[in-house]
Amino acid sequence: MSTVSDSVPVVIIGAGPAGLLLAHLLDLEGVESVLLEVRSAEYVMGRIRAGVLESSTVELLDGAGVGDRLRREGMEHRGIHLQWPEERHHLDFVDLVGRSVWIYGQTEVTKDLMQAREAAGQESHYEVSSVSLHGLESDRPSVRFVDSDGVRREIVARAVAGCDGFHGPSRPAIPDRVQQIWEHGYPYSWLGILADVAPSTDELIYAWHPDGFALHSMRSDAVSRLYLQVDADDDIANWSDDRIWTALATRLGDGQHGWHLTPGPVLDKGILPMRSFVATPMRHGRLFLAGDAAHVVPPTGAKGLNLAAADVALLSRALAEWLRDGRTELADAYSDTALRRVWRCTHFSWWMTNMLHRQGDDFDAQLQLAQLRWVARSDAAAAALAENYAGLPIGY
Ligand code: APR
Ligand code: PHB
Repeated sequence: MSTVSDSVPVVIIGAGPAGLLLAHLLDLEGVESVLLEVRSAEYVMGRIRAGVLESSTVELLDGAGVGDRLRREGMEHRGIHLQWPEERHHLDFVDLVGRSVWIYGQTEVTKDLMQAREAAGQESHYEVSSVSLHGLESDRPSVRFVDSDGVRREIVARAVAGCDGFHGPSRPAIPDRVQQIWEHGYPYSWLGILADVAPSTDELIYAWHPDGFALHSMRSDAVSRLYLQVDADDDIANWSDDRIWTALATRLGDGQHGWHLTPGPVLDKGILPMRSFVATPMRHGRLFLAGDAAHVVPPTGAKGLNLAAADVALLSRALAEWLRDGRTELADAYSDTALRRVWRCTHFSWWMTNMLHRQGDDFDAQLQLAQLRWVARSDAAAAALAENYAGLPIGY
């Protein structure tokens, strides 16, 4: 079988939030790209993932002209509720650090970005297979793949952006001798449900409970998203809808101070593993990693999508200055600059996770409660949480 060859300044592997947003930001900078994705566009669009956007992500989407629907249909939240048995405290991020967050599902961000890509009229290939990276240490790296019609293709580029998530081929294309992996596991998972019922709360509730952590989130004023801490090896088959709602009611404090959790039809449910993972450096030769391809955080604190957005904000500028204007400073600094924020968010999600999940013995539980009371009562501690949650500036 012969191979069809082509060339373009940037090949982007992966059409998750990192790849789609990078493609759009590069287009705004006048840099052409080809986007490759193993899944179908419908699959990528339907994938239920994160839902909280930091203020810097919202500003980035606004600035890139893809924030209109988010501003119209998203929900602005001033802060979150922190809870433990018999107590619920509101942290007002706007009062504490002058920034809010927005509730807008990743499915919606994905739709907006796919539309922008289509409007830009640039090349995207969905349902590709056998993606492989070549010549990353040369001036002309290339990516080979088989397109959805079964045609073998090779695209020669000046740079390759590995935005293909935790399981994609980009990170493994970096030789072991130059790559370092930093990893931390957690002995529990999250069971998440999407429910066709109005949220029982105005803003998100993060709840510590002796039975385990629970989170009440939402996607709109008619759809709720809720999570429960479960054992790492638990099976979704063990959790009937009734059992899930009963556990949520207990952990979220149904009946306390007149508050009630309203259950509803479960539209989707699944168990999500928790890990912290960082691969360094984020660049090797002409390959630049962004998003989950380079780092994974546990979902507590909702940093995954925001971190991916911050990476590609830096990367799009770096690639544009280099490929369009011939200046390499930002591209050379990309890995170090991105990793500063990556480690900050890795620490924040680890800290939130450890503070809120039941683990260890009763002594550990008392330390967690002491920490929660401090965050709720001290403006300095609350501001530290708020600054990290609502988001540090992109170039932090
Ligand atoms: N070729 C092309 N695409 C691939 C390949 C491959 N061989 N392997 C994986 N992909 C695609 C996946 O199908 C997926 O659509 O790469 C994409 C990676 O997307 P995500 O996993 O969503 O990663 P990223 O874009 O970095 O998003 C970061 O968003 O949903 C949040 O919490 C999530 O932290 C994550 C964040
Ligand atoms: C979500 O709505 O999916 C969500 C919200 C907050 C988190 C994690 C996930 O910390």
